[in-house]
Amino acid sequence: MRAQRIRKAVFPVAGLGTRFLPATKTVPKEMLPIVDKPLIQYAVDEAIEAGCDTLVFITNRYKHAVADYFDKAYELEQKLEKAGKAQQLELIRNVLPPGITAIFVTQPEALGLGHAVLCAKEVVGDEPFAILLPDDLIWSRGDGALKQMADHAEASGHGVIAVQDVPLEQTRSYGIVDAPGFEGQVGRIKAIVEKPAPDQAPSNLAVVGRYILPPTIFGLLEKTPRGAGGEIQLTDAIAMLLGVSPVDAFRFHGTRFDCGTHLGLIEATVRYALDHELLSGPAREMMQSALDELGVVET
Ligand code: G1P
Repeated sequence: MRAQRIRKAVFPVAGLGTRFLPATKTVPKEMLPIVDKPLIQYAVDEAIEAGCDTLVFITNRYKHAVADYFDKAYELEQKLEKAGKAQQLELIRNVLPPGITAIFVTQPEALGLGHAVLCAKEVVGDEPFAILLPDDLIWSRGDGALKQMADHAEASGHGVIAVQDVPLEQTRSYGIVDAPGFEGQVGRIKAIVEKPAPDQAPSNLAVVGRYILPPTIFGLLEKTPRGAGGEIQLTDAIAMLLGVSPVDAFRFHGTRFDCGTHLGLIEATVRYALDHELLSGPAREMMQSALDELGVVET
């Protein structure tokens, strides 16, 4: 992979979000809020912070809410302007800051994550790019996870995949990498497998939804047969990529919340509330009193 700036970020957002029904009957899961922003906004902010200026959303033909959210809201802006609500105006204008381009691509069929990424081929073209899965929300006090990864990719010219250690009994929920010989945060990936059973897993190092990959991945995705769950898996194309291009596993600084699950969404809400400059105090008190109340009920 050529060592160059990562400008383009792909967001696969075509999933049905069935785990969050009935909420996701009309609201895409990427639009579920964590405190005051929808999940997708956290991923977008992380990509922009990492230096990306072209955001590619892979959606399905029924999902208009994500595109509507990033569209300019003329009427609302006019109303807020007239009412002198400068702060709120700033908030909705900064959903997509100046100089950032959003492109929407429709995935014609739900054939899996690998297929969704392949839909970005024409827009990404011949340069390394990032993929962010908005379900994986990464909270960090310093640089965001993708910025940390982009710094490494831009310095090394390698592909980079975010990883974290998970309990062995959870390997069936993740792509799992074999990356022996870690030095600091980075280890070269020797093998990768999608959702293995614990006794088949090469390690307990799980893929988190942040990738920086060379454009070679598109040709490999075109050749990838259906894999786990009958879907075209990004992991299977990455396994082929390992033979032609170096890819590093990267242990990022930060805490990842799996917002594809109920508990992960709740955990993220609690964390961001406790870290919010205005809500932190009241949120702490509210949580304490809820715990106290439940404690009273239980005894
Ligand atoms: C996807 C990937 C998997 C990765 C996970 C991270 O799985 O296929 O390799 O570990 O995201 O969140 P999904 O969670 O979409 O089933």
